[in-house]
Amino acid sequence: MVIKEDGTMAGRVEGKVAFITGAARGQGRAHALRLAEEGADIIAVDIAAPVEGVVYAPATKEDLDETVRQVEALDRRIVAEIADVRDLEALKGVVDRGVAQLGRLDIVAGNAGIDIMMPWHQFTPEIVRTIIDTNLIGVWNTVMATAHHLIDGGGGSIILTSSANGLKAGPFNLAYNMSKYGVTGVTKSFAMELAKDHVRVNSVHPGGVDTPMAQGLMPDFDTLKDDNPNLLGMMTQWIPGVMEPREISNAVLWLASDESAWVTGHALAIDGGMTQY
Ligand SMILES: NC(=O)c1ccc[n+]([C@@H]2O[C@H](COP(=O)([O-])OP(=O)(O)OC[C@H]3O[C@@H](n4cnc5c(N)ncnc54)[C@H](O)[C@@H]3O)[C@@H](O)[C@H]2O)c1
Repeated sequence: MVIKEDGTMAGRVEGKVAFITGAARGQGRAHALRLAEEGADIIAVDIAAPVEGVVYAPATKEDLDETVRQVEALDRRIVAEIADVRDLEALKGVVDRGVAQLGRLDIVAGNAGIDIMMPWHQFTPEIVRTIIDTNLIGVWNTVMATAHHLIDGGGGSIILTSSANGLKAGPFNLAYNMSKYGVTGVTKSFAMELAKDHVRVNSVHPGGVDTPMAQGLMPDFDTLKDDNPNLLGMMTQWIPGVMEPREISNAVLWLASDESAWVTGHALAIDGGMTQY
């Protein structure tokens, strides 16, 4: 909350509308709740279904319904639909219906993503394409479906979720590394061209976050590490402990708010120091 000139309190994104992809659970749900706590209404999408090749449990329609319930419990409005970020026309439809209902669009969080880990020689063209289509083309689609609404409204803030692996490649994560380094490039490219329209674009780079993705990603990771001792310790956090999704949402909130008015094209690591050595 912030104190306004007349002495009353207001949320840090009061009156704004945020579009969030991958909002059924994990970090996407946390972003929806954190932004709603600070006064934003929400447009939410999620595939809410399995994605081919992903080994951890998929999000469900019930998960997306639970996000809706929790946002409404905060007395904020939410428009939620099932859509695949790989489908630009579907995303445009959700965004346009959401803006028609909620009146405007100010904040975009391109958060949806997947991870499929394996040694380099096991990746197939299909797996690589699924990851690039979801994590990289998906965030490009997210900006293409939303940017004109931000421009029409006089500006806004776009936050794209990359990863610590978008700053420092992680072992056995080749296609994910490709996609998340790509998100960094998408961010800087849009940030340059949209700056004159008062649209800021930044990327967030989480370290390990306690979500279903991280919990079920790669059961035999420890064996692979043992077979590749020179790679041990590469992704070590300096700060001990496990990060909760809300820690990333706090960074997203700051980037979404006017507090970061002069921050654009930036790659913000929230990783306990992991990428700094
Ligand atoms: N958990 C981590 O340790 C970690 C670390 C760094 C970055 N990230 C990134 O953070 C983001 C959020 O991940 P999370 O940790 O909350 O995982 P998660 O699996 O809990 O949530 C991801 C959500 O995205 C949705 N999604 C996946 N593919 C989609 C598609 N094609 N269209 C629409 N929705 C889709 C899923 O259904 C799910 O609800 C991802 O981009 C991920 O790569 C996660």
